[in-house]
Amino acid sequence: MSGHGTPIPMTSRACGPLTGEANVPGDKSISHRSLILGAMAVGETRIFGLLEGEDVLDTAKAMQAFGAEVTNHGDGEWSVQGVGVGGFAEPDGVIDCGNSGTGVRLIMGAMATSGITVTFTGDASLNKRPMARVTDPIALFGAQSVGRSGGRLPMTIVGASDPVPVRYNVPMPSAQVKSAVLLAGLNAPGQTVVIEKEATRDHTERMLTGFGAEVSVETTDEGRVITLTGQPELKPQTITVPRDPSSAAFPVCAAIITPGSDVLVPNIGLNPTRAGLFTTLREMGADLVYENEREEGGEPVADLRARFSPDLKGIEVDPARAASMIDEYPVLSVVACFAQGDTVMKGVKELRVKESDRIDAMATGLRLNGVEVDEGEDWWIVHGRGHGNVAGGGTCESHLDHRIAMSFMVMGMATNAPVSVDDGGPIATSFPVFEPLMEALGAKIERLTI
Ligand code: S3P
Repeated sequence: MSGHGTPIPMTSRACGPLTGEANVPGDKSISHRSLILGAMAVGETRIFGLLEGEDVLDTAKAMQAFGAEVTNHGDGEWSVQGVGVGGFAEPDGVIDCGNSGTGVRLIMGAMATSGITVTFTGDASLNKRPMARVTDPIALFGAQSVGRSGGRLPMTIVGASDPVPVRYNVPMPSAQVKSAVLLAGLNAPGQTVVIEKEATRDHTERMLTGFGAEVSVETTDEGRVITLTGQPELKPQTITVPRDPSSAAFPVCAAIITPGSDVLVPNIGLNPTRAGLFTTLREMGADLVYENEREEGGEPVADLRARFSPDLKGIEVDPARAASMIDEYPVLSVVACFAQGDTVMKGVKELRVKESDRIDAMATGLRLNGVEVDEGEDWWIVHGRGHGNVAGGGTCESHLDHRIAMSFMVMGMATNAPVSVDDGGPIATSFPVFEPLMEALGAKIERLTI
């Protein structure tokens, strides 16, 4: 498991044009939710195209520990024999969610209203991250929790055996918190209401409806008001997981900055709550085209064609778009280095509490590679140098963060000197085939032995 094993230093160096097709894996957010909702349904859910990254595999193990039968049939096909809402058994051991904030926060929500006691832990990155954002709202349902100082893991949660429904205003833009409250609301009687000021990814709402729960969404002056009727019998589903736009971001951005490139990234989910990066790249002048736009399983999908874009310009990214591209700022900051002028990213405080402090991790690494960056608590500015003028040559710390590691590997494809990371191991949490996929396009990524 990443973060527990020996570090894997990696180097990426300038390559020829990237060409061909990049078949990226299944969506991480939808994969976690498929397993958790499958475990809370009555009967067998079948999942095609599940992301088999470490984060999702940890969630699969957790669902097994709660009494659901989870089976891997090979080729990305999985089944989950659910135990029903309120049917979780108390796990015998500690639930280790590895590197995954999504896994642990969603599972905490899902178990908070079943009268069981569960201890959660994770790797060194996850154990630093704030959990009060979930333990505060689940306390309103009647769950109790005891963790380390600062509301950090390891943490034990005593689920409410007699839960009450809740009305909760999510204080930060977070799909994980929204989802944790909705999942907790499943086993509370009556209606649970969750309000978010800014729209965040809406997979939980969509999937709850698909599993047969009664969910309504209204846009009001307060924001998005989501109302869930508790204690439904969830019906098992057959789910085809769309490919992950957050993983597609890496080959797309690599093609945009690498001279001569032309890469097709097929079947990418373009749910508007996820597609902000692609809009931003086009505003910067990237040659990025949506081909074969269609609907699949109620989600907009397209094939993305990304080509080398020599005339990128820095822009001020619309802060209203932040939630829809929150995981993509690290790789956007790499593209910004190859643009002319400044790229200004505001309203992004949440980046400081991801798998790493992503503003700090990227700013430090970009500076090591000859790029100037300014930063404040909730903003940062990358001073673009334009094509051919980005030095490279730095060895950056990935801080147990898959997206930091992949972003620097993408950077090295177009810098004058190679770019290295101290540990590419975390890439396996979300994009286990990143290296072979990028190499098949023409990238030169090497693992160094230490
Ligand atoms: C996710 C929500 C986001 C995102 C994470 C996946 C989800 O986190 O960064 O990678 O699947 O709900 P926050 O809810 O903390 O913004």
